[in-house]
Amino acid sequence: MKKLFLNFCSTLLFLIFASSVHANADDLFNKGKEVFLEAGNCAACHSLSDAGSMADIGPNLNQIRPQVQTILMAVKNGIGVMPAMEGILSDEEIEAVAHYVSLAAEQ
Ligand code: HEC
Repeated sequence: MKKLFLNFCSTLLFLIFASSVHANADDLFNKGKEVFLEAGNCAACHSLSDAGSMADIGPNLNQIRPQVQTILMAVKNGIGVMPAMEGILSDEEIEAVAHYVSLAAEQ
């Protein structure tokens, strides 16, 4: 009986833990999408279907499917005519938009 109770408790703990991790991941995704559309202005230059943007000044992100590291480099330092945004966007905003684009570009 005691064992059953312990099993029940650990399952409950696991569920609480799993759902909070999930909520955090979604928060970062949503924050990144907001940065993509607003503060970062990425949508003005890039197509990304999840964001509903269809600009073609920069490469189509659904086609190049960039890794997090590539996005961080481009956003922080700029590349070609794309402006560097370190200091314009906060570190948190840059992390969020990189997380968002890397996942959204896969869809
Ligand atoms: C003024 C237009 C403009 C804006 C705003 C802009 N980009 Fe870009 N972006 C470009 C162009 C142009 C390139 C291609 C540069 C090159 O390869 O010469 C590019 C390239 C990239 C790349 C590919 C980098 C690589 O190494 O190939 C990524 C990823 C990217 N942009 C993400 C973003 C994100 C995320 C934002 C918003 C924070 C953003 N861009 C805002 C124009 C823009």
